[in-house]
Amino acid sequence: MTETYQALNDQFSAVFGPGPAPAACFAPGRVNLIGEHTDYNGGHVLPCALDMGISVLARPNSVGAVRMYSANLSRGSRKTAPVTGAVHDPQRGWGNYPAGVIRSLENRGFVLPCGVDLFISGSVPNGAGLSSSAALEVSVACALHMLFFPQLTPEEMAFAGQEAENRFIGVQTGIMDQFASAMCRADHALFLKTADMSFTHVPLCLEGCALVLINTNKRHSLASSAYNQRRLECSRALEILRPYTDASALCDISPDQFAASAHHLQEETLLRRARHAVTENARTIEAANDLAKGDLAAFGRLMNASHISLRDDYAVTCPELDVLAEAAWAQPYVLGARMTGGGFGGCTVNLVRSDSVPRFIRETGRIYTEKTGLQAAFYTAAPGPGVHSIS
Ligand code: GLA
Repeated sequence: MTETYQALNDQFSAVFGPGPAPAACFAPGRVNLIGEHTDYNGGHVLPCALDMGISVLARPNSVGAVRMYSANLSRGSRKTAPVTGAVHDPQRGWGNYPAGVIRSLENRGFVLPCGVDLFISGSVPNGAGLSSSAALEVSVACALHMLFFPQLTPEEMAFAGQEAENRFIGVQTGIMDQFASAMCRADHALFLKTADMSFTHVPLCLEGCALVLINTNKRHSLASSAYNQRRLECSRALEILRPYTDASALCDISPDQFAASAHHLQEETLLRRARHAVTENARTIEAANDLAKGDLAAFGRLMNASHISLRDDYAVTCPELDVLAEAAWAQPYVLGARMTGGGFGGCTVNLVRSDSVPRFIRETGRIYTEKTGLQAAFYTAAPGPGVHSIS
């Protein structure tokens, strides 16, 4: 639930001094339904926005600095950054995300004219693979758009967020998370072709089914994980296949072309990484068609196949994610289940018959705790709109 402007503004004034914050916006986290680790391989993705996300209230200040306050971290957490020329500072912690966005905007010619106070309040769990950092980046960009940069488009907010992630934070993420946070529509999935950034909104007609997210409560950390290594493996595989396929990205390669050229990948790891990218892209295109046709059973089978490929070929699941997926697959009222996001922890997404959701939660929670000793957390996804102002 998004807090109302009034409630947030009271907190803003308590932190930064009386008076209203002239800019207030909300950017959602996202769940990716299918199309994992394809966005930096020129492939397709199919995320939808959540109703959980990050709210930012902003007001210009006269202290010549960016002052930031997060209401979520215990007793509130304050950070600062310079108005221009910010560089990554390990002491700044989470404040590097807003600072990175401000720097990326500056690189694009959107230079802050003065200091600014940013009040941040979020409802999307950190480290759960639901894009809390993309939501933070996009909401900060939107607040600055409202204050200073009316020409800044939602697409540019997304690209500035990605650049912050890549150049400031140092994780070579693709564009999916920020683009979903900026561009999704309520009750729709976003079918995005990252090769040329063309997209359509596909209605999410779930007819008697619900999307249930399960958090392993095992924090994922993209920066310390093998994310950047996977990207490198994909570019090495592409270099080897390029002369035989003419592809400019791994997801340009069709499954047939791949079958004819895969023997050139003599290193088993590269073969597996490339096979995931090629097959996952094909699955995502098929899944978007199934969703548009309302064939949820076929959609669910593709979700399952996606998880298996991420587990066996791409090696980005972990025992906790596999336990959750397997527990879901064993239940008759589950149409499909897979890990979502970068992997190595975080969440699974499950397509479950609505009338069986309570039973699904009970059963899966029990099996998970039995097998891992951890408690899972459950959320029913309510696909909401992309970034918007709040009042
Ligand atoms: C993270 C990245 C995205 C994408 C996914 C995997 O969420 O931020 O760009 O690569 O992992 O699909």
